[in-house]
Amino acid sequence: MHLDRVRIERLRNIINIDISPLAPLNIIHGANGSGKSSVIEAIHLLATGRSFRTANPKHYIQYQRQDALVYAESKKNRLGLNKASDNQATVRLDGETVNQSEIARILPVQLINPENMDLLESGSKPRRQLLDWLMFHVEHKFHGLWLRYQRALKQRNALLKTTSSAAELLVWEQEMANTGAQIHQIRTRVSEEWSVFFAQIIQELLPAQSITIEYLPGFDIEQGLLQTLIDSRARDKERGHSLYGIHRADLRFRTAHGTAEQTLSRGQKKLLILALKLSQMKMLYAKGCASVVLLDDMTAELDSAAQARLIALLIALNSQIFMTTVDLAAVQLVLEDVDFQTAFFHLQDGCVVKDAV
Ligand SMILES: Nc1ncnc2c1ncn2[C@@H]1O[C@H](COP(=O)(O)OP(=O)(O)OP(=O)(O)O)[C@@H](O)[C@H]1O
Ligand SMILES: [Mg+2]
Repeated sequence: MHLDRVRIERLRNIINIDISPLAPLNIIHGANGSGKSSVIEAIHLLATGRSFRTANPKHYIQYQRQDALVYAESKKNRLGLNKASDNQATVRLDGETVNQSEIARILPVQLINPENMDLLESGSKPRRQLLDWLMFHVEHKFHGLWLRYQRALKQRNALLKTTSSAAELLVWEQEMANTGAQIHQIRTRVSEEWSVFFAQIIQELLPAQSITIEYLPGFDIEQGLLQTLIDSRARDKERGHSLYGIHRADLRFRTAHGTAEQTLSRGQKKLLILALKLSQMKMLYAKGCASVVLLDDMTAELDSAAQARLIALLIALNSQIFMTTVDLAAVQLVLEDVDFQTAFFHLQDGCVVKDAV
């Protein structure tokens, strides 16, 4: 989906702005602290219900205010999210109240920012989130199964902290094993398909390296999830949570000489991370769905040749791009060779002025 207009109210230093008309490529520029990342944060919030900077809405809702609003229009739809400081959300699609997942489904958003560039070195959570972004968008059954698994996991973890009996635990372990096995199957199938798209993109971005994606399920496949859970009860009770399961899945990336984490340079790691995200968008696009990509502060992370290549690849995937920068002149140089419909928005103290560029 491409957005034609975004309106943001009461979010960080933005009192009320209307960003329109949007183009396929949107450059949001302005001084430090002008509100560029807040625009990116608002679009991410609308699409996912979550900020990528904080889990607490009080941090992004404007000081002294009780709620924030993000509203967007595409050719076909009107999308709205109102988030209150107590975390209550009202989500609307074409005037009807809906679940957040319905907006997430029609507005696939990929965030690429300097924090993402630590994906290989960080804990497993962001890698699992990357994997599940794709699962959510290509396999409609995934979300419902994932919610059921999370509920069972929560119940088992609560029981682990009490003097629960084996029979009480077993009820939730069976639910975890049943939904977990289906999620594992989806992850296996989708990551195999993803690997094909990844091989094409990595060939363009890092042609000298042969890198593969390995999916680690989070439990012993031979033994099965149910038996793994039963066998680890004593250790899980000691720890107070479930050590094995599909909630512990991970991704590993291998080069010819070892893991990507150990063998690639810092710059090569960034290109690998871009290839992971771009290949997901490519796979989604092959299924008829265009993504929105949020590039926050990436002009400082990538040299101008890499920026030009990234934009060209995204354009080929029919992605709508929102890109922030403090250095408009540098971005204009990058865009000299890119023949693409572009809109420029200049932010000043949370207000937007559309440049006459
Ligand atoms: N809850 C809030 N209410 C009001 N203002 C806030 C709130 N949280 C942060 N701010 C302010 O909002 C402003 C916008 O921050 P933002 O991160 O969007 O800036 P930016 O343009 O991305 O800057 P940079 O170029 O440094 O990344 C900052 O001045 C910040 O201090
Ligand atoms: Mg910023």
